[in-house]
Amino acid sequence: MGAFSAVDVIRAKRDGHVLSDAQIDWVVDAYTRGQVADEQMAALAMAILLNGMGAPEIARWTAAMIASGERLDLSAVTRPTVDKHSTGGVGDKITLPLTPLVAACGAAVPQLSGRGLGHTGGTLDKLESIPGWRAGLSNAEFVAQLADIGAVICAAGDQLAPADRKLYALRDVTGTVEAIPLIASSIMSKKIAEGTGALVLDVKVGPGAFMKSVEDARELARTMVELGGAHGVRTVALLTDMSTPLGLTVGNAVEVAESVEVLAGGGPADVVELTLALAREMLDAAGLPDADPAAALRDGRAMDTWRAMIRAQGGDPDAPLPVAREVEVVRAHTDGYVAAIDAYAVGVAAWRLGAGRARKEDPVDFGAGVVLHKRPGDPVRAGEPLYELRSGRADLIPAGAAEAASAITISAEAPTPAPLVIDRIA
Ligand code: URA
Repeated sequence: MGAFSAVDVIRAKRDGHVLSDAQIDWVVDAYTRGQVADEQMAALAMAILLNGMGAPEIARWTAAMIASGERLDLSAVTRPTVDKHSTGGVGDKITLPLTPLVAACGAAVPQLSGRGLGHTGGTLDKLESIPGWRAGLSNAEFVAQLADIGAVICAAGDQLAPADRKLYALRDVTGTVEAIPLIASSIMSKKIAEGTGALVLDVKVGPGAFMKSVEDARELARTMVELGGAHGVRTVALLTDMSTPLGLTVGNAVEVAESVEVLAGGGPADVVELTLALAREMLDAAGLPDADPAAALRDGRAMDTWRAMIRAQGGDPDAPLPVAREVEVVRAHTDGYVAAIDAYAVGVAAWRLGAGRARKEDPVDFGAGVVLHKRPGDPVRAGEPLYELRSGRADLIPAGAAEAASAITISAEAPTPAPLVIDRIA
């Protein structure tokens, strides 16, 4: 690989030029190996945020990030493989019921997940509230469990797109997370390197999500769908609403409990609706369009797969989940209808109560979070419980309460229901 000057590459993007394939390959590789300094990559990331990248540049950048590490070989898995990725939301526990559900319908779901940072939770943090469950598997364990049970949710190894690991941490502290080319290449490099044959993206839109507008979400979705196609991964995206938290729970153990309710055939209507919508897309993308995920929820097959998946990773699906010592119930001041529940405010409240972390190395409180008693559209009487704040520490309750205080709007009229699935990009 020919050497370039990092300053020349930065200047080229700063001045609005298209980076060449050779420049992209070099800068991603040299940064991963520590030969391009953090401050240089930070300047380049800012130039990309301000001036954008064309589709061929994004494709090459993604390929260079994949090439920075290993690509998993799932050829030992005989079922069709399909994964799902959400761009992150509040109360977004969908991966938990969805992974065993799709596996119960005949596909294999290789779900490499992350931990939460800030107001959105992480799937691994939620599952770690199950006693005994472990997130770290070797590649051999990962493939064996996928071949055997068809469902794995675990931590991505260090060798999967290491360029992204380094770059994401840098973007986090340099105000460059929001660049669509960088978000798309970050997500897709990890999913393509994981070896899945097909992928369904849940691109969240609204105040509780990265993408606040439908236009931006559509652009991100289109970019990722194209990237998937270019790398031989059949990719479909749903744009889904993230103005309201999903379901009634935001936290770790409380979200696991709600997911188990869905697997038992119950659970909040919006969680069930989105789980089934994504399951149908995944099964279709995996070449299993006749599978019936609603039947697999009803007849217990999805629950059986969940239990097998949790046990295979050392967890006890029957063990009681952690509960918070401190619970404060917040009640309505007036009669009316719940008009809106601000996902961002509820996400921040759960975080302040201890459910999330401020720094990567912080521990999370598994029992902490927010439990809603009402959903938008529900009638409410003064004095009725609206939500509960839960924490292991009494001193964190006031900070959570302050964030949540303005989250729920009550109006005299019932609101018009908003659709959960806004668009589909294929
Ligand atoms: N999630 C990722 O994995 N990468 C991003 O850049 C944003 C969200």
